[in-house]
Amino acid sequence: MSDTVRLEFDGDVATLTVDRPDRLNALNEPTLEAMADALEDARGDARALVVTGAGDKAFVAGADISRMSEMSVEESHAYCEQGHAVMNAVESFPAPVIAAVNGYAFGGGCELALAADLRVASERAVIGQTEIDLGIVPGWGGTQRLVRLVGDETARRMVFFGERVDAQDALELGLVGEVVAHDDLDDHVAEMAADLAAKPQFALAAAKEAVNQAHEMGQREGLDFERRLWSGLFGTHDQREGMTAFLEDREAAFE
Ligand code: COA
Repeated sequence: MSDTVRLEFDGDVATLTVDRPDRLNALNEPTLEAMADALEDARGDARALVVTGAGDKAFVAGADISRMSEMSVEESHAYCEQGHAVMNAVESFPAPVIAAVNGYAFGGGCELALAADLRVASERAVIGQTEIDLGIVPGWGGTQRLVRLVGDETARRMVFFGERVDAQDALELGLVGEVVAHDDLDDHVAEMAADLAAKPQFALAAAKEAVNQAHEMGQREGLDFERRLWSGLFGTHDQREGMTAFLEDREAAFE
């Protein structure tokens, strides 16, 4: 159990909340460790995962600047690796992850949102890779995932200028998929997560893996990967049930 990370289940939907509101949910080492544990605990049980921040100001205001200010070079290596491991665990989580960006998402907070599958922002969200003004660069995936999400020019602008963009601008840049009223965010994301949790679980996991691989592989290799995943779903209960239900003109009862 951790006092800075909460993992709660509502049916098949898990919510991981970074709960350090007095520090605007900044991620120090114990918080990263607790996130890693929570992600491990949720694997297998969660058919969709929501990631968000506690309090009414911040999603995650970034890596912990007080802690970083006193780090040795060796400690900075370990902190970078620990951050990478958590972001990679979000990215490879075997069910869709939705970032409910309910406020400030700077530095590591932006990177946490980038590692998720989908991003929904409250109209109060402000997002940025602000590390440049601390004399560093994004170190938990921001230089890589941001380019893939918003393209080279926009990523360079965000990383070079450290600009903080509001929710509407983030939507226009493709940094988030949707902006909703602040008070509607939790319900809206819960509904999305429940919809995803009701989809065929293995097909959804395969879909996520295949799209993730589009960022890792060349197209020919990616197509081979897709073909293997596609065929691997044939013979599963959900494949038979989904197709039979369509032909019988009824709702499918997925596993
Ligand atoms: N690391 C450590 N502490 C942080 C933090 C971070 N990333 N972000 C905020 N905090 C702390 C503040 O130091 C402050 O602590 P205090 O109450 O002891 O003074 C507390 O959280 C509240 O933040 P504060 O700055 O007073 O709130 P605000 O509403 O005036 O401003 C922000 C909010 C997010 C605009 C501002 O805190 C900020 O710019 N944070 C840094 C963001 C950043 O660069 N993150 C990238 C890190 S890689």
